[in-house]
Amino acid sequence: MAKPKRRYVCSACGSVTSRWQGQCADCGEWNTLTEDAPQTVFSTRHDLSSGGRPIAFEPLDAPGSLPQRRTTGLAEFDRALGGGLVPGSAILMGGDPGIGKSTLLLQAAARIAQAGGQVVYISGEEAAGQVRLRAERLGLAGAPISLASATSVRDILTTLGSMDAPALLVIDSIQTMHSDQIEGAPGTVSQVRGCAFELIRYAKENGTALVLVGHVTKDGSIAGPRVLEHMVDVVMAFEGERSHQYRILRSLKNRFGPVDEIGVFAMAGQGLQEVANPSLLFLSGREEPVPGSAVFPAMEGTRPVLVEIQALIVRLQSGATPRRAVVGWDSGRLAMLLAVLEARCGLNFSSAEVYLNVAGGYRLADPAADLAVAAALVSGLADRPLPKASTWYGEVSLAGEVRPVAHGGIRLREAAKLGFASAYAPADSSGEVAGIRRHDIAMLPRLVDRIMGDT
Ligand code: TYD
Ligand code: MG
Repeated sequence: MAKPKRRYVCSACGSVTSRWQGQCADCGEWNTLTEDAPQTVFSTRHDLSSGGRPIAFEPLDAPGSLPQRRTTGLAEFDRALGGGLVPGSAILMGGDPGIGKSTLLLQAAARIAQAGGQVVYISGEEAAGQVRLRAERLGLAGAPISLASATSVRDILTTLGSMDAPALLVIDSIQTMHSDQIEGAPGTVSQVRGCAFELIRYAKENGTALVLVGHVTKDGSIAGPRVLEHMVDVVMAFEGERSHQYRILRSLKNRFGPVDEIGVFAMAGQGLQEVANPSLLFLSGREEPVPGSAVFPAMEGTRPVLVEIQALIVRLQSGATPRRAVVGWDSGRLAMLLAVLEARCGLNFSSAEVYLNVAGGYRLADPAADLAVAAALVSGLADRPLPKASTWYGEVSLAGEVRPVAHGGIRLREAAKLGFASAYAPADSSGEVAGIRRHDIAMLPRLVDRIMGDT
């Protein structure tokens, strides 16, 4: 028999090579290639004359086929999930170390247990005593959770097999699990994949909602094989700056719901507090406007969130290469916007350092931020504050046009509700909203004229 070929899998992007290298040729990460079990070769063909049972087809509208979602007891968590946990579904929860994944899941597990659901919480990272200590700190020590510190999937499945299937099974984290059926240390691609596969199969067969905690690599993707993302039903990211209080739970993939809803939490002394109205969180609360600051009514799923964007422009005397640094926004998008401001509006940023910051540790993903960022940049460059109590939104094209964006009406109403007096935005069908004055901006040069005060 031919010797099975060795193969190496990158734990960051999942690409496969036949030769070990220090750096992955596909994603450029270092030291991520690990040896994987050899690939099975399927050279045979099914002999259809012997055996094979017919499969039954089912109608799409089979009655009673919709499983009832179960609430996690945390409305913000439910919202991000699209309305609660679906029995038999597998959820992968990623996030930086220390961001609060274990805290969030312990809180949800305790709420479900207190509501009468059976919950199994397996910690592979902490001893049971440490989890108990956290539960005490959260005031949840009385919740009837079945807690264990274990890493062997065989032991876990054996134990689960001898009891009633729980409503929720938390595995914290999948990278610490190992199976004696598979070669390799815990955390390697084949181990993570194999363990996840078995746990997911258990969940599907028993109608248990399964949450797998996963670590995140430097570039923000969930570590371990990308294939894990294909195996689960829901992929969630728990984000935030560790130095800030606020945490955002975002669903990146959801087979049972929308992917643009977020849950907002604040990390406090007693664990994660739900933030039902996040609108004001990301504003600085300052009364008088300062140069370089613009307020943007962002949309997160169906919810508006007002965010302050800050720009600092520093003119350089020497010919040194100026820096561009961005926190909370896409640096490629900033480069594009600076180029549009230079090419279409005649502004000069080439000898200036540009620093852009989104207040409160928030990460902007809404394309409508362009106009607010442009307003902050121009205001910073001109060293003139934007009009008091103004908000800005719209997408900017390479030609310098300001394009309409979705949900204009919701953005305007939220800004009006929070006491903002004016909105600079592209013309759209959202119409007039009481309490806020609209200024239509169709082209970026028009905005620059307004801020620079040339009109
Ligand atoms: P943890 O849930 O352990 O993070 P993860 O599982 O994502 O690694 O959270 C750890 C951080 O949360 C830690 O830095 C302390 C902080 N924390 C609080 O601020 N308040 C609390 O009540 C708890 C339990 C944790
Ligand atoms: Mg943890």
